[in-house]
Amino acid sequence: MKIAVYPGTFDPVTNGHIDIIKRGRKIFDKIIVLVAIHPNKKTLFTIDERINMLKESLKDLNNVEIDHWDGLLIDYIKKKKVNVIIRGMRAISDFEYEFQMALMNRNLYPDIEIIFLFPDEKYTYLSSSIVKELAMFGKDVKHLVPKIVNEKLIEKYRGKNEKS
Ligand code: COA
Repeated sequence: MKIAVYPGTFDPVTNGHIDIIKRGRKIFDKIIVLVAIHPNKKTLFTIDERINMLKESLKDLNNVEIDHWDGLLIDYIKKKKVNVIIRGMRAISDFEYEFQMALMNRNLYPDIEIIFLFPDEKYTYLSSSIVKELAMFGKDVKHLVPKIVNEKLIEKYRGKNEKS
């Protein structure tokens, strides 16, 4: 069985992430979507909230598992005996960071392969931060995120938008 891990912060998951997961399913028998820790990111949603949004957004896709990990990605990969990581590449600006992370992960575990998938071009400008910023200022983001994420963003920012 060909299995790949798709790691990220997913704060929150967007349609761009879903697009990558769907593309990954065409290549692999199973995708593990892994909510991991980026030490420099302060998240809006708790880990449980992010997992629940992913579960709801991906509930119709078989062969997709959701998991979380608070250590080094490569330790999870070894524990699960998986040897492929999927990452999305939106634009050339992603390249340097991804290149550094890919080579460091391979340095830590030479058996790993990192595969980059390009999202549909309509998602190349999308990021979780942009979605949060739009939602914070009361803009509708339902065309950019799964339904559950849109609802949770409205809930999170309701008080704030009502005050302004
Ligand atoms: N569609 C929409 N947005 C996308 C996207 C896509 N297809 N692909 C990436 N993004 C966005 C994300 O929304 C995110 O936006 P944000 O910065 O505004 O939050 C950004 O691109 C990158 O996020 P993501 O893909 O979630 O990765 P990340 O950089 O947040 O996560 C980890 C990186 C968690 C995988 C990495 O830090 C990690 O492996 N952590 C574990 C610890 C570890 O092993 N560290 C050593 C690494 S060498």
